[in-house]
Order: sequence, then C-alpha cells, then structure tokens
Amino acid sequence: MTKHRSVAIDGPSGAGKSTLAKRLAEALGFLYVDTGAIYRTVGLQAFRTGTDPKDAGAVIALLKDMEIRLAYGEDGLQHMYLNGEDVTQAIRRHEISDYTSSVSAIPEVRAFLMEQQRGLARSHDVVMDGRDIGTVVLPEADVKIFLTAAPEARARRRWLELQERGQETDFETVLRDVLERDDRDTHRAAAPLRQAEDAVLADTTDKDLEQSLTLLIQIAKERLQA
Ligand code: DC
Repeated sequence: MTKHRSVAIDGPSGAGKSTLAKRLAEALGFLYVDTGAIYRTVGLQAFRTGTDPKDAGAVIALLKDMEIRLAYGEDGLQHMYLNGEDVTQAIRRHEISDYTSSVSAIPEVRAFLMEQQRGLARSHDVVMDGRDIGTVVLPEADVKIFLTAAPEARARRRWLELQERGQETDFETVLRDVLERDDRDTHRAAAPLRQAEDAVLADTTDKDLEQSLTLLIQIAKERLQA
C-alpha cells in the first residue's frame, strides 16, 4: 500500500486556517479535512440538548448516541452529518464556537474523534487543519505548519465574516471571545494548542489571503519534495 501524504496545519481560530487549508488542498490535489467541524458537531449536540459543555460526565454521556459522519458534496465541500442530519450550517453559529471550545477540552471527546481523523489520512492524501494535528493526530505528517496572526487581526477577520453572514456583533465582543478561546485552547490539559517542534511558523498578520496562500504552497511543496 502506498503511504499517503499529509499536511498538518494547526493554529488559533481566525488565522485563516480553514480558507487557506482548503485552497492549499486544491493546489496540491489533496483532500481537505476540517477537524474543527468534527468537534463542532459535539458542541452542537451539547447546545441542542441543553448540556453544560464544561460538565465532562454529561458531555461524555452524549457520545454514545452520536453518529458523526463526514462526506464530500458534489460542490467538493466537506459536509458534517450528525445522526443522519446535515449540520454543516448549524455548526457554524457563533454560540457553537464557545460550546465547542469547552467540549474539545475533554480527553474522552478527543479520543472519540481521533480514529475518524486518522482513518481519513490513512486512505487519502490530506491537508488537515485543527489544533493538535501535527502534535497528536498525525505526528508523522510530511508537512507541519503552525499558522497564526495577532489576536486583533484574527478578531477583525472573524467580525467581518459574521457581518457578511448577517450576524450582528460588536468588535469588542468578538475580540474578547477570540482571547478567551485562545486561552482555553492553549491552556487545556488535553492536547493543548502548541506549535510542534518540527512545524514551520507562518504568521499572516500583515499578509492578505493570496500572499498567505503563496507562502503555504511554497512551504508545502518544499517539504513534500524533501
Ligand atoms: O477551528 P474551529 O474554530 O472550527 O474549532 C472549533 C473549536 O474546536 C476550537 O475551540 C478548538 C477545537 N478544536 C480542537 O480542539 N481540536 C481540533 N483539531 C480542531 C478544533
């Protein structure tokens, strides 16, 4: 069996990870896997069932009734299914982000979702983005990139994105959420967000999307050839 190639992209929210990872996957002809979306299905389930996302026991109890499936539509986009329902849009709501940040700190939730992520990388060439892909999920990834930007730049992008979707929020709230989420994601005990030792650092604070993409393609191609 030929070994599939993998590019791991980790970093905080709002660094442009999902847009860039998706474009990079297209450029390389690899499958794009957004692991945040997988975690978001658990956040959504906690939200919908009125479960406290910080109550590990209650969240773990939800897992046995959850069937999470990932499929690619004709549009080439990754769709998430929760017990057969397409929740691709529902998981993107602002409230779900906070719920997801809390449920993803629970080790049992991470273990529950791990095999699905590894299985995809075993059967496809992938660009996978998340928080612990280079450190935990795919420690043998061919390319590891840690993608980041200053918190204000990330909050600004997120705020514009929410406005475009018609979700009115003020900038200060979005910035506070970004800082709180960063704090939770980097300080949690289970698979905290950190740069893998062998990851290349890419800072997009002063780069637009196209400049950032050029940088990522260059890093990935160099490393895949090495
Ligand atoms: O990338 P995102 O904003 O969709 O991620 C939502 C949350 O899920 C975020 O708070 C961190 C968590 N997450 C994680 O813990 N591990 C991953 N591999 C991906 C996301």
